[in-house]
Amino acid sequence: MEANMPKRKEPGKSLRIKVISMGNAEVGKSCIIKRYCEKRFVSKYLATIGIDYGVTKVQVRDREIKVNIFDMAGHPFFYEVRNEFYKDTQGVILVYDVGQKDSFDALDAWLAEMKQELGPHGNMENIIFVVCANKIDCTKHRCVDESEGRLWAESKGFLYFETSAQTGEGINEMFQTFYVSIVDLCENGGKRPTTNSSASFTKEQADTIRRIRNSKDSWDMLGVKPGASRDEVNKAYRKLAVLLHPDKCVAPGSEDAFKAVVNARTALLKTIK
Ligand code: GTP
Ligand code: MG
Repeated sequence: MEANMPKRKEPGKSLRIKVISMGNAEVGKSCIIKRYCEKRFVSKYLATIGIDYGVTKVQVRDREIKVNIFDMAGHPFFYEVRNEFYKDTQGVILVYDVGQKDSFDALDAWLAEMKQELGPHGNMENIIFVVCANKIDCTKHRCVDESEGRLWAESKGFLYFETSAQTGEGINEMFQTFYVSIVDLCENGGKRPTTNSSASFTKEQADTIRRIRNSKDSWDMLGVKPGASRDEVNKAYRKLAVLLHPDKCVAPGSEDAFKAVVNARTALLKTIK
C-alpha cells in the first residue's frame, strides 16, 4: 500500500482523508477554509499560530468523506511547528495572493519545504494539489494574472482555481473538485488518475511562455542578440511560432505570448536595414 493512502473504516463507503493548507502568511488560507466550512468571512487578520485543526464531513458520489484539515501558519517563524504535519497527506491547498507577487513566487519554496520534510521516501506524486489564486476581489492590486498562475499550476499537474474568500467566488467549486480528485485518487490505488497526471502541453512550451513574459526587450523575447540580422530574427521567430501557435499550443498564456512574439518580430524588422 502507498505510504500516504488514507485509512478506510468501511471499504468502499466511508473514507478518512488528511488535507493541509500551505502558502505565505496572510494570503488567506484560514479564510478560504472558514468560508467553506462556516460560510463566513472575517476581514480582520488573525494569524494562525502554528497549526489550526478541524474536521468536516463531505459527500462525494456515494461516499462519506471525513476530512481532517490542518491549516498551517505561513509565517517562517512557525516552521518548527508545522514541519511534522506534512506526512500522510492526500491533498494540499496551495494558496497565493494575486496582489502579492512574492506569495506566488514562494510556491516553489513551499513545495520544496514539503518535499524536504517528507524525506527521500516521501511521494509527492500521489498527492492532489489545488492552487488557489486568492483575493481576486481586489482587482485594483492584482499583479499575477490568471494565465501566469494557471501555467505554473497546470504544468505541474495541479488543479487551479481563482478564489475570493471574501465574496466566496470559486470556493465551493474548488473544494468540490479537490475532494472528487482525492476520492478518484484513493479509488485508483493512491495514484493520480492519468488524465490529471500530465499537462496537455510540454515543459518547453511552458518555459518559453515564462521566458517571453519576463523578457526585457524584443531581442530578448526572440532569443537573439541585439543587432541580429533579418535572417536570424526570422529564424528565431519561426521556431517560436511553431512552438506557440494557438492551433498547436494549449498552454495558458500561449496566445498572448504568440502575439507578443509577432509584435516583437515586426518591431525588429522595422529597425533592421
Ligand atoms: P497565516 O495564518 O498567517 O498564514 O495567514 P492566512 O494565509 O491564514 O491568512 P488569513 O486567512 O488569516 O487572511 C489574511 C488577511 O487577508 C485577513 O485580513 C483576511 O481578511 C484577508 N483575506 C483573506 N482572503 C481574502 C480575500 O479573498 N479577499 C480579501 N479582500 N481579503 C482576504
Ligand atoms: Mg491562517
